[in-house]
Amino acid sequence: MRWFFLILAIAVVATVYAIGPRGVKFSDPPFELFPDMDHQYRVNPQKPSGFFEDGQGSRKPIEGTVPVGFELPHAGNEADLTSDLDFSRGDSYFDTGLFGDFYGSGYPETLELDAAFLARGKQRFQITCTPCHGNSGNGAGVVSKYWAIPPSANLIDARVSAMPEGQIFWTITHGKGLMGPYNGVLSVNDRWAIVAYVKSLQAAAGN
Ligand code: HEC
Repeated sequence: MRWFFLILAIAVVATVYAIGPRGVKFSDPPFELFPDMDHQYRVNPQKPSGFFEDGQGSRKPIEGTVPVGFELPHAGNEADLTSDLDFSRGDSYFDTGLFGDFYGSGYPETLELDAAFLARGKQRFQITCTPCHGNSGNGAGVVSKYWAIPPSANLIDARVSAMPEGQIFWTITHGKGLMGPYNGVLSVNDRWAIVAYVKSLQAAAGN
């Protein structure tokens, strides 16, 4: 029995010595099972880079880049209504859709209600409003498939059709319920153009 304990003790010490060495320093990185994007290509400031054809690490801004604070050039395919990128918040009917405390009817006199204006409204509507309100304005936009409650309003029913132009303008400007305000996204002109297009959709629906 004495021998058994002695052998056992030697075996334990030998095992611990073999599998549990301590105090050894490794200079190699540990084996990485999941590298987690630890090692990435990068360019040091003022250093060359083989990534680019000309070998230069620091790049010039891409041609046509517009620095923040400078006027954007016009996209050639748009009606020139964009020249009035006016998000002003005056208190005229043009800016608010209101006469005093009441929604106004009709369009501000300064607007030229021609085909280009309506076309602009259609284009902006299809970009900004269609995802929720649908192409025809009936409220069955693509989000209704995923985000059904509460539904976006049907813009071509009798209720919304009865709203004066100023109220629709006001709704676009300030939003309502889950619909956000669009006064920072759409110029005053564009908002009126959308109102005109919504009115034309309502007329097409017989309201
Ligand atoms: C993110 C989805 C969304 C977008 C985008 C959106 N709307 Fe709406 N809109 C709604 C919802 C939701 C309501 C219902 C709000 C309520 O009644 O609480 C609504 C209501 C309305 C109403 C009726 C307001 C009332 O008083 O009942 C009008 C008019 C309207 N939207 C016009 C527009 C126009 C024009 C655009 C594009 C500039 C637009 N909406 C963009 C979701 C949206």
